[in-house]
Amino acid sequence: MVCLGNICRSPLAEGILASKCEHLPIVVDSAGTSAHHIGEGPDHRSVHIATVNGIDIADQRARKLMKSDLEDFDLIFAMDSDNYTNILKLASTELDRNKVHLLLNEFTPEQNKAVPDPYFGGDQGFEIVFSLLDDACEALKNKLEKEFDV
Ligand code: 4NP
Repeated sequence: MVCLGNICRSPLAEGILASKCEHLPIVVDSAGTSAHHIGEGPDHRSVHIATVNGIDIADQRARKLMKSDLEDFDLIFAMDSDNYTNILKLASTELDRNKVHLLLNEFTPEQNKAVPDPYFGGDQGFEIVFSLLDDACEALKNKLEKEFDV
């Protein structure tokens, strides 16, 4: 799960997907395309909306997406088109480029919708982000269950 800072959207996406997929043999992680918040915990507003929904993301720490992530992971989900473009810059093969998707296309295919950046807004933005991520992660979980025949 990849956003810009790895402190608002992608930590939530990681926490939501991990909590839905505990029964699946997958590794869920998140990162940012920028280096601005490396080592920081998630934004307190993300921690709060996660807690309200029974998910603990407080121990996550921000990191920057690396070229090796494109090789190590099978699926890379971008929160918006800027992140999508920046992720693709790290992909050196067609195989790696094909791993990169916009997350909301899992719920609303081919519409290329963005998870809006909530950083400069109020608490309501984090509620909207949570709801969008929950829908997308539920759809993704259902797809993965089929792939793993679970
Ligand atoms: P994120 O949100 O990409 O969802 O983690 C942001 C966090 C920090 C900034 C922008 C977006 N920033 O400009 O510092």
